[in-house]
Amino acid sequence: MKRELLTLLLLGTIAAQAQQRKVTLLTDGWDFSHDKTTWQTVSVPHDWAISGPFDKKWDLQMVAIAQNGEKQATEKSGRSGALPWIGEGHYRCHFEMPDGYERAELVFDGAMAEPTVSVNGQKAGYWAYGYNAFRIDATPYVKPGKNLLEVDLVNVEESSRWYPGAGIYRPVTLILTGKQRLDDWGTCFRTVSADREKAVVTVASRADASSSAMLAIEVAIYDAKGRCVGHEHSGLSADGKTEMTFEVQQPHLWSPESPYLYKVYTRLYDNGRLLDENVGKMGIRTVRVSKEGGFQLNGQSRKIKGVCLHHDLGPLGAAINKAALIRQIKTLKDMGCDAIRTAHNMPSQWQMDICDSLGMMVMAESFDMWLYPKCKNGYARFFEAWSDKDITNLVLANRNHPSIVMWSIGNEIPEQWSEKGRDISRHLQDLCHQLDPTRPVTQGMDRAEDALKSGFAQVMDVPGFNYRVHKYPNNIKQLPQGFLLGSETASTVSSRGVYKFPVAPSDNSQFASWSPNYDPTAMKKADGQCSSYDVEYCTWSNLPDDDWVWQDDQPWVIGEFVWTGYDYLGEPTPYDEYWPSRSSYFGICDLAGLPKDRYWLYRSKWQTASHTIHLLPHWSWGTSKREKNRIGKTTPVYCYTDYPTAELFVNGKSQGRISKNPKERLDRYRLRWNNVKYEPGELKVVVYDADGRQAGEQAVKTAGKPAAIKLDPWTQQDGSLKADGQDMAFVTVSLTDADGTIIPNADDQLTFSVSGAGRFEAVCNGDATSLEPFTQPTMRLFNGQLVVTLRSARQPGTMTLTVSDPKRNIQQTLDIEVR
Ligand code: GAL
Repeated sequence: MKRELLTLLLLGTIAAQAQQRKVTLLTDGWDFSHDKTTWQTVSVPHDWAISGPFDKKWDLQMVAIAQNGEKQATEKSGRSGALPWIGEGHYRCHFEMPDGYERAELVFDGAMAEPTVSVNGQKAGYWAYGYNAFRIDATPYVKPGKNLLEVDLVNVEESSRWYPGAGIYRPVTLILTGKQRLDDWGTCFRTVSADREKAVVTVASRADASSSAMLAIEVAIYDAKGRCVGHEHSGLSADGKTEMTFEVQQPHLWSPESPYLYKVYTRLYDNGRLLDENVGKMGIRTVRVSKEGGFQLNGQSRKIKGVCLHHDLGPLGAAINKAALIRQIKTLKDMGCDAIRTAHNMPSQWQMDICDSLGMMVMAESFDMWLYPKCKNGYARFFEAWSDKDITNLVLANRNHPSIVMWSIGNEIPEQWSEKGRDISRHLQDLCHQLDPTRPVTQGMDRAEDALKSGFAQVMDVPGFNYRVHKYPNNIKQLPQGFLLGSETASTVSSRGVYKFPVAPSDNSQFASWSPNYDPTAMKKADGQCSSYDVEYCTWSNLPDDDWVWQDDQPWVIGEFVWTGYDYLGEPTPYDEYWPSRSSYFGICDLAGLPKDRYWLYRSKWQTASHTIHLLPHWSWGTSKREKNRIGKTTPVYCYTDYPTAELFVNGKSQGRISKNPKERLDRYRLRWNNVKYEPGELKVVVYDADGRQAGEQAVKTAGKPAAIKLDPWTQQDGSLKADGQDMAFVTVSLTDADGTIIPNADDQLTFSVSGAGRFEAVCNGDATSLEPFTQPTMRLFNGQLVVTLRSARQPGTMTLTVSDPKRNIQQTLDIEVR
């Protein structure tokens, strides 16, 4: 920092300084009410619905889900999380306007939904879409000293196909400046060209200032070591704009593997007097798509290994939290994932900052519907009047994030078949290009034939197809682009730790009332869980293996975005008509953030930096009363590994040495022993590399009696938390035997208490059928595990978590330092 300042001084443009901008996150001291009569104190980000209670009544619907192929309306529950998100919410807080500031801007990163913002009793602004960032110029309404900010929200029923969350669920920032200031969304970093030797970047700026010949803008770029790599100043055009071009020698290029960020200072001067300054992070990198090279980052072709993510953070609801987002992104990166798709709406700024700094590419999406409603009161109500404004804010708020490599203008838009739909596609894509000429634009299509017939698919920079891989060969023939993206893939379903027998691939059509395979008794016998052998999918979808065949065999498939990286609240397919069930089964990780077996399947394919050896199922059959003993019964064993060959042993007896077989659907990417007979003891796999050399092993043991509670904390850094009232620890709680083997079917009711420098925030066990509230300090284990989330205090100290299992009289404590 010192060095940066010194350089600036040496470069010598700083003269007298005016009042510097003041940026305040409006976090604390908010009051919240549903009816404006009783108020409670909350902090923002806040989700008013996440505490529940879960109830079928909140979102019970008679509906035919057209996207699933349904023709007749049936009763659906839990579709949007079975949480009380519908209704009004009112927030108010005070902020200070100190002397010396003349302009006040409020930046909302999203508020659910239809936020009306008032300042000192006067309406200052409104935004229709709950997912978008918007700015309010509060200057005409503010006064010196104390000011009242009020935000009124309304969530109407049937406005979402999933849990949207409720409230001011993303941050609110107050920016105070002098009269002349920089327009933050007018600052734009662009990589024009880049290779190892040299990068050409431009920095455009816009001043919100009355024109003066003496106004000037200075831009200085620093590398991560604080060395100045570019410095320019320039006057302003009549509309307050400048654009400066820089050549950066031997640039550090941004990529998921090396997320290098530069710092850019932009300063506005009037006659040498500093009026305003903003600081941004810039990544130097190029993005291109072409017939010859597919998707290219920094000139190198790569197939996208992506996942779709909904915005909710499981038991935290939609209320955004940096630690929770970092945990998600780091876990995905360890799996080898290099991209996320923000399905099906605008991302939060915090999430994008994290993707920039940790190295995760992003497809930033916008809409789940345009003119034609997918649910009765969805965004279709607003599309006509708001879509251009929404795309504009999406691009302006986010275009400086190097992580974002493409924009998405829609998901499974019903108007795919029509020329009007094609024209809207072209219009929205053009708008993206106009605001940001550097990134390609895509959307996810689910009706390939219709979209190809109308020209809807052909107009897109990146034609994205959701599922239906068998249609890829026909699609590609009609695409002038010469490539296609699996914008949404798999929708494989599983529940962590649940294994069903016999093991056979199933599209779950027995549960679909419109399907010829419908079995009316199936739902009655169902348990609301899906098998973790990773062989279940939906009538429109498939298994991970089915996608990889296309990506591996066809150069024109440029990658995929798996539905989904994490389970999310709502959309409990295939159990839309089953109760209780209120969250998805699609996740590679469960709602608590714990990896399901599928995590290791993707890791075995995607992670090239380290090896994967993972065995399933668990090997403790019949250790609880709930579960039948499987001794002597056929219990298939799968190994997810990047190695080609392995030998399996049950209590030392070989079950055969097998290799992956590209000719069989489930044997190309998995190693399967389908006829293993269960006997308690040890299951062991020994893996071999391509040269037949023994390369590693993994063993799973039958668990003994429950004896201990194991607590594994995850924090952003070195096991401690920041004393900022925001940081979170995620503690995985497992019931184990004396040797540390997890009791895989344990469902003990645990209780949690927290003392010292923090508090209990939430708990989640990943069971989609659980109706236990996330915010009470008690929950059952689901297949032996759950995750407790703790929040740091503002004062340093030690936070102590005590987990008790009253049934077994076992207790465990964990201390976490809060600094
Ligand atoms: C897709 C849709 C997603 C989700 C998914 C479930 O068709 O785009 O939002 O509903 O199906 O498989």
